[in-house]
Formats: sequence, C-alpha cells, structure tokens
Amino acid sequence: MIISSLVAMNGNKLIGVNNDLPWKLKDDLEHFKNYSMHKPIIMGRNTYDSIGRPLPKRTNIIVSKTLSEVPGCYVCNSLDQAVLLGKEHTNDEVILIGGAKIFKEGMKLINKLVISWVDADHLIGDVYFPDFDMDNWIEVSNDIYQKSDSNEFSFKISEYIKK
Ligand SMILES: NC(=O)c1ccc[n+]([C@@H]2O[C@H](COP(=O)([O-])OP(=O)(O)OC[C@H]3O[C@@H](n4cnc5c(N)ncnc54)[C@H](OP(=O)(O)O)[C@@H]3O)[C@@H](O)[C@H]2O)c1
Repeated sequence: MIISSLVAMNGNKLIGVNNDLPWKLKDDLEHFKNYSMHKPIIMGRNTYDSIGRPLPKRTNIIVSKTLSEVPGCYVCNSLDQAVLLGKEHTNDEVILIGGAKIFKEGMKLINKLVISWVDADHLIGDVYFPDFDMDNWIEVSNDIYQKSDSNEFSFKISEYIKK
C-alpha cells in the first residue's frame, strides 16, 4: 500500500499563505486532480476550510478534533485513524494532501512523496512543509512545466520513493 504526501512548495518549503496557496498554477491543480482522482485523500481542518467543499470522486477524510460532521466527508480525530479509514477504501494509495500539521505528523507514515517544486523562492507566507532529509528519498520521475498564462511560475513535479 502506498501512503503518499502530495504537495506544492517553493525552495524554502513554503506551502501556504492566509489559508490559501501562495500561487496560481492551473497545470498543478490539474495534476493534483488527476493524481488524487478515485483515491482517499486526508487533510487537516484548515486545508478543508481552504478548499471549502468535498472534492468529487475521492474519499474525503478530514482530521479534526473540533469538527464532528461534514456532509460528503469523513471526519477523524487523529491522523492514525484517518489513515486506517483511508486504507479501508483502497488497495492502492492513500494520499495526505496537507497542510503542514498533517504533512509533519505524516512524515513517519509515508513511503512516497510527490512534490511540485515551484520556482518562486522570493514569496513570503505563513505555512511551511516540515524539514526532511532528501537523502532518504530517491527521485523516480520528474516533469517540467514552464511559466505561462495559466501558470504564474514555472515548476517541476518530482516523484520520490523512500529508500
Ligand atoms: N501547497 C500545498 O500543497 C498545500 C497543501 C495543503 C494545504 N496548503 C496550505 O496550508 C495551509 C493550511 O495548513 P495548516 O498547517 O494551517 O493546517 P492543516 O494541517 O490543514 O489543519 C490543521 C488542523 O487540522 C486538524 N489536525 C491536524 N493534525 C491533527 C491531528 N494529528 N489530530 C487531530 N487534528 C489534527 C486540527 O483541526 P482542529 O483544530 O479542528 O482540531 C488542526 O487545527 C493553507 O495555507 C493551505 O492553503 C498547501
């Protein structure tokens, strides 16, 4: 079973600002959609608030100690419980989609990382991906996207498998 984190960050590991994404990257949103389609996705309460609705054709699992019921989603009060539930919904892959709290606690659980490296190191924000040791990961693929009318910055999507 694959347990992955799917994230977009800049070179300083910035992932969020004002409970939103720091950039507008249409092709990365498309990648997010295609990668996560039909899979269980696990998110923290802030990330759910930021998205604002259950994402269609995916098992949406929110981790929260304050929410009880959210229509169209499962709510779990711990990440371990959320991952167990996710595993019951697939034989393939459970995806952690953020934010920082989920990524940090999830680091010990995941065996795959899918990172969109955004060429925007000058940006300032308020939420960062946790520090991790790149030496523990092998890059198995990458795909480069140029800055364009639909992508505010160029970016590279890299997939890593844990050594
Ligand atoms: N660039 C990207 O790929 C990406 C991806 C996702 C999110 N983001 C950005 O990241 C920001 C949101 O991230 P965030 O770190 O502020 O929040 P978050 O991780 O989405 O949500 C935090 C909340 O989730 C719940 N939670 C998290 N871990 C928990 C645990 N182990 N047990 C129980 N509850 C837990 C808690 O909710 P309760 O307080 O309700 O208990 C906590 O307050 C936004 O700016 C968003 O746009 C970026």
